[in-house]
Amino acid sequence: MDNTRKFDKVVNLAKNRGFVFPSAEIYGGLNSTYDYGPLGVELKNNIKKAWWDFMLAQPDVVGLDSAILSHPKIWEASGHLESFTDPLVDCKKCKARFRSDHLLEKKGLKPNYLKDKPPKNNKVRCPDCGGELTGVRQFNLMFKTFLGPVEDQANQIYLRPETAQGIYLNFLNIKESMRLKMPFGVAQIGKAFRNEITPGNFIFRMREFEQMEMQYFVRASEADKIFNQWKKWRYDWYLSLGVKKENLRFREHDQDELAHYAKKAVDIEYRFDFSKNETFKELEGIHHRGTWDLCRHQEFSGEKFTVRDESGEEYLPTVVETSGGADRSLLAFLMDAYQEIEGGRTTTTKSTKEVETVLKLHPKLVPIKIAILPLSKKEQLAKLAKEIYNSLANKYRLQYDETSAIGRRYRRQDEIGTPYCVTIDFDSLEDKKVTVRDRDSMKQERIAIAELSAYFQEKFD
Ligand code: GAP
Repeated sequence: MDNTRKFDKVVNLAKNRGFVFPSAEIYGGLNSTYDYGPLGVELKNNIKKAWWDFMLAQPDVVGLDSAILSHPKIWEASGHLESFTDPLVDCKKCKARFRSDHLLEKKGLKPNYLKDKPPKNNKVRCPDCGGELTGVRQFNLMFKTFLGPVEDQANQIYLRPETAQGIYLNFLNIKESMRLKMPFGVAQIGKAFRNEITPGNFIFRMREFEQMEMQYFVRASEADKIFNQWKKWRYDWYLSLGVKKENLRFREHDQDELAHYAKKAVDIEYRFDFSKNETFKELEGIHHRGTWDLCRHQEFSGEKFTVRDESGEEYLPTVVETSGGADRSLLAFLMDAYQEIEGGRTTTTKSTKEVETVLKLHPKLVPIKIAILPLSKKEQLAKLAKEIYNSLANKYRLQYDETSAIGRRYRRQDEIGTPYCVTIDFDSLEDKKVTVRDRDSMKQERIAIAELSAYFQEKFD
């Protein structure tokens, strides 16, 4: 199956099996906003936990959770008010609006990123009606709102478009309160907001999304080494959670493409295959931000952000940033894990010959770790099955399913990626054993109930 078809299937599965729902659907939906359902929130939490554990396992990285509502000065200092823009074109006929670099990309043309030289769009017409397009204007992506009851310019604030700035603002608070020595990093997960001109491709580009960012503060002479180290670590992180190597690649930004704060940027891209010309797309960015942010906040706030090394030399730290999206990662993990088996894998049920779906998510990420499946609803089996459920529920996210044929129940669990199913049958009442079925090999093992906890501990730890 090609990835473009796979993408549609994943979107369907996400909705039908409780991963991601269009937001406010009963009111016709709110363009490109999504709600995470019972399984989606588990998967997303597991991704965030895997990221957080990976970051905080580094001896020199600490965490932060900073505010979303943000002081206007932050964005003046950071350069976002002036430069956090995307190139906008309007259709003269139907008035629809588009990002001109995306229109070029869809046609297989290389976008020209220079802000003062608008992308040449004369070859491109409105994708909706074929109408002529206007010249390019720069559109600022930040969402404004008001603090307090008076809606005037003096009370205007912004929803943060990146979590990074909260880390820079707290650089001294963190360093001093935690008595940190240079170099060190600060990790943060949180919502960010961008008024994207053309959101789309499901949860790939949204206006409200979640970032997983780490800012590493280091001496300028060390920054290249640190940059390369984090670049490799972040790439390896995706591989360690099961993403296939052939679907990942690095792409370095051209000089004209760099964000206003970046000296150098390399994207980790995933092969989403949204269309013929949109194959690999950004999953995460590794950015060398130089001293831009601390220098500007120093200038605008009057605070001093310089540090002293052991020899007494004073310097302004350079920042190396890793900036990933929790939503984009979730989409990549789903796409990578999704498999359809024509004709089915199961040979023991009536459903043989149907297409079977298996979500081969990494066991660390799966929303449901173990399904508890009593073979019949009869009281004796249900009682034992519930005892087993209760003995595992504090440690693992479980699903209890007692309806329909066992083959069908296995397939329902395969579809949501559950790595193990525990079947309780009438023999279990006698021999005090259950059958554990493995999602990938479909092998079944008879395990003593008394040993189940240790069995799963070994599987998941
Ligand atoms: N602090 C640097 C920064 O924000 P970015 O490349 O603009 O860099 C980082 O964004 C990551 O945030 C992206 O790689 C992507 O995973 C995620 N992201 C950015 N815009 C997004 C959007 N509109 N919807 C979903 N995720 C987004």
